[in-house]
Amino acid sequence: MLKIGMLTSGGDCQALNAAMRGVVKALSHNAEDGVEFYGFLNGYQGMIYGNYRKLTSEDFSGILTRGGTILGTSRTPFKLLDEPTPEGINKVEAMKENYRKLGLDCLVMGGGNGSTKTAHRLSQEGLNVVALPKTIDNDTWGTDMTFGFHSAIEIATKCIDDIHTTASSHGRVFVIEIMGHKVGWIPLHAGIAGGADVILLPEIPYSIDNVIKAIEKRDKNGSRFTIVAVAEGAISVEEASLKRKAYKQRIAERTSPSIAYDIAAEIINRTGREVRVAVPGHTQRGGQPCAYDRVFATQVGVEAARGILDGEFGFMVADKNREIVRVPLDIVAGRLKTVPPDCQLVQEAKLMGISFGDEGVEGAINPILKPRKSKK
Ligand code: F6P
Repeated sequence: MLKIGMLTSGGDCQALNAAMRGVVKALSHNAEDGVEFYGFLNGYQGMIYGNYRKLTSEDFSGILTRGGTILGTSRTPFKLLDEPTPEGINKVEAMKENYRKLGLDCLVMGGGNGSTKTAHRLSQEGLNVVALPKTIDNDTWGTDMTFGFHSAIEIATKCIDDIHTTASSHGRVFVIEIMGHKVGWIPLHAGIAGGADVILLPEIPYSIDNVIKAIEKRDKNGSRFTIVAVAEGAISVEEASLKRKAYKQRIAERTSPSIAYDIAAEIINRTGREVRVAVPGHTQRGGQPCAYDRVFATQVGVEAARGILDGEFGFMVADKNREIVRVPLDIVAGRLKTVPPDCQLVQEAKLMGISFGDEGVEGAINPILKPRKSKK
């Protein structure tokens, strides 16, 4: 009898349930001596505190289309992993103990970057771990795609579409803030899909002069409105010249609700135009998974199950050139997949006249994304 533990960690996303359902269905159909599933509740917290429940086939019925996660989730920062809980519990030891107490053969973890680092750590500590690449941000190293990403793009694109009609009626500039603190995959894709005129990403520091120029150029050409799609973590050239710590401090001291409001205020000051801000926020992580994510997450779940049946562990399921493969956790853990500023999609967008706010700006790099010197 196989015993499988499951948990979902970090920010939720669409198709987490679909991925777990894929694991469960494939194992239930193919494990010769049967299989039992145990769900740790609310991420690694459930594994630390021994908070779990046995899952039955009923738990997995009807969840293919359901967003969120039936197990609940939470963020357990990797950098605090070796600090005890408020009750003095050693987190790593507690997780190992709860894994062993249940007699698990494998832990299946649906998570993004930080969660994958913890999965790798547990794997190094001797547990059998398989990771499922979850996050709307699509910033997980080692895979071309994460599930949740396409659903989030659909929602962000719909938001840009909807704003278009009201922006054009009123002849306004709209700044639409799209999720992505460190990476800009969602704003890049949704910006192009929604026909944004300006796209600002964390990977491509912008000059506000260029944003203004793009708006004025549209005005001159008779377009009454402009859509600026801005990533949560977009950064100006001036901010990019700061050291990492000083930039973080600047963000912490921001008095406006977020970057979109800062950019809107600058546009108003400089152009006198009517400007509005729209922030779809967590709607981008909510609701049903799109069909693409349902299929991909199902494939991911099935491949996780195949790995377990093969007796292979310590990997994340990945999409490589549209093939479902297994990538060792030590390749994935601790690396971020950012948008290359000169990637094909950015170049194509620029050829169509979309501004990234970086015209004439060279060599600016977001300090958050600069490789860090390793401590000796
Ligand atoms: O990692 C997914 C994500 O939705 C990011 O795009 C966003 O910046 C962040 O999580 C928001 O986090 P929280 O749900 O903790 O506010």
